[in-house]
Amino acid sequence: MFRTAYVNGRYLRAAESAVHIEDRGYQFADGVYEVAAIVGGVLVDSAPHFARLARSLKELDIAWPVSRRALVHIITEVVRRNVIDYGMVYLQITRGVAPRDHAYPKGIRPALVVTAKRLAPQQPELIERGVSVITLPDIRWQRCDIKSVSLLPNVMGKQSAKDAGAYEAWQISADGSVTEGTSTNAWIVDRSGAVVTHPADHAILGGITRESVLKVARAEGIKVAERRFTLKEVFAAREAFLTSTTAAVLPVVSVDGRMIGDGRPGPVTLRLRERYLATLDRQVRTAKGRGS
Ligand code: PDD
Repeated sequence: MFRTAYVNGRYLRAAESAVHIEDRGYQFADGVYEVAAIVGGVLVDSAPHFARLARSLKELDIAWPVSRRALVHIITEVVRRNVIDYGMVYLQITRGVAPRDHAYPKGIRPALVVTAKRLAPQQPELIERGVSVITLPDIRWQRCDIKSVSLLPNVMGKQSAKDAGAYEAWQISADGSVTEGTSTNAWIVDRSGAVVTHPADHAILGGITRESVLKVARAEGIKVAERRFTLKEVFAAREAFLTSTTAAVLPVVSVDGRMIGDGRPGPVTLRLRERYLATLDRQVRTAKGRGS
């Protein structure tokens, strides 16, 4: 079976689809994207993903290429045509095609691409043993809250992690705080038992999983703090973990080669992971009309 992609109004064989050489996404990284999960064939957390997409577009003054309703239809169709039960949807909107000139051109249509792929279930050992991360200076710009396709520092950071045999690189800002991973949000459980993550300001991407995990933690009666934290606090933390749409909640057991807590996935992390996955499960049941 070949993969199908939606490209500017048409469903095409992914391997044969193409965009224009003067697409501003290609020339300037002038575009935004979303990654959402498909669980049991259902697009989960669609409302917050659309809200974040709307915000990213607004911040860059890019129009919606199609209505939100049409976009839902396109995503559903791409998921259906690719026969995805568990996987992800990738959606990219760029400002469109125009002769190269830095300023925003007037009157062009934004370009829309939607792809989807199956994902293998997460390897159990990642959860049972936890993952390691390295740290790097955060060399990104000051609008990391926009989910822009301009990801070169993230790409370089992830490669450094891979070269070091680590799962992720946590980025450290000039003031010494841990901002986030290259494609995940960063968390610790501090000495008081509070779950701590960087505030959702311009220094990080406000993760959808991050929001859900904050909600789950509050519902569980766990103290939460959206505040800056340093590497020193990471080393002193009881637990550490990371979150993203594709990783869900993953325990972090070592940072820069130093063990966190007792070097094993912590109880708070595992509880949050379980409760978070249960919220996805409920969404899938509701969408399929089986109630909760
Ligand atoms: N990454 N921080 C960054 C820089 C990210 O790119 C992502 C998402 C996250 C987590 O956000 P969410 O919980 O909404 O997935 C945090 C996606 C998955 C990606 O680029 O593939």
